[in-house]
Amino acid sequence: MLPHSALSKAAKALFWTNQRVSFSAMEGFHSKAKALMYDTSGEPEKVLKLQELDVGQPQEGQLLLRFLRAPINPSDINTIQGKYPIKHQLPSIPGHEGVAEVVALGNKVSGFSVGDRVVPIHPGQGTWRTGGVFNAKHFWRVPRDLPLEAAATLCINPTTALAMLERFVSLSPGDVVVQNGATSAVGQAVIQLAKAKGLQTVNIIRDRPNWAETEDWLKKLGADVVTTEEKLLESLSTCSFPNAFLVCEGDKQMFASLSSDLPPYPHHEGRVHAIIFFFHASFSPSFCK
Ligand SMILES: NC(=O)c1ccc[n+]([C@@H]2O[C@H](COP(=O)([O-])OP(=O)(O)OC[C@H]3O[C@@H](n4cnc5c(N)ncnc54)[C@H](OP(=O)(O)O)[C@@H]3O)[C@@H](O)[C@H]2O)c1
Repeated sequence: MLPHSALSKAAKALFWTNQRVSFSAMEGFHSKAKALMYDTSGEPEKVLKLQELDVGQPQEGQLLLRFLRAPINPSDINTIQGKYPIKHQLPSIPGHEGVAEVVALGNKVSGFSVGDRVVPIHPGQGTWRTGGVFNAKHFWRVPRDLPLEAAATLCINPTTALAMLERFVSLSPGDVVVQNGATSAVGQAVIQLAKAKGLQTVNIIRDRPNWAETEDWLKKLGADVVTTEEKLLESLSTCSFPNAFLVCEGDKQMFASLSSDLPPYPHHEGRVHAIIFFFHASFSPSFCK
């Protein structure tokens, strides 16, 4: 994966303090678990503390889980900052997704066995911990041969990408999808899913010193065109956009200048949170090469 500024910033916040913890190093997990917790909203590096917790035994309908991997998503950071729509009672353990192994089952739990790998299907389970007891209804089994990193990042970004490609427009092979934030985890999933569907993608990224390496990576994932906002605007002075949906970060003004027909969209502090444009097959992506 490419180094993403948001993630590396978050990772720094979490891993480069004196509270270092590795979510994969959980040998020795029995009755105690370690968790990153916060009791007041704020910047992660300031409010997170590493705590030891009693785990307890799984009761009826519960699973005892040992977490194997848990990613850092923008929504995790926003949750800790208190800016995410889903609010938690404090103190709280962050982490919306991850992959865990079933260690023990409570009574009346069916569909799971000890050793199964599971992922949370409800947000806000608090996955930034080595283990704990959870409601079995909030987890799904995943194949054991799925790589841990893929399993741990299965539930949020690929599903968002798929929903954007399937639920808001009807696309056919040859149609063109233009997205910004193409280096993001969502953006990379969009590229791969679009390729599998026979769609073409135009991918807007920020200019950067390692442009060739980044372009090469996105093209290996299936990107047709990788460009910048500036180059796209130059090529598009005569085009208008029929449709839009939001994906990532960007300058609201830039998108407003592309079309006056954009539908209302959510944004944080004046920044567009995300945007994807859809074009039908008659529209060629070659204009912005
Ligand atoms: N269901 C949902 O609503 C849902 C689900 C998942 C994600 N999301 C949203 O989708 C977005 C991407 O999430 P992710 O996990 O895929 O993110 P990510 O992997 O952390 O990537 C962050 C992206 O933002 C770009 N970026 C950062 N600062 C920027 C700036 N100032 N101007 C332009 N681009 C900037 C980065 O580009 P560089 O490579 O140039 O640094 C990178 O492409 C987030 O806004 C997230 O909240 C929504």
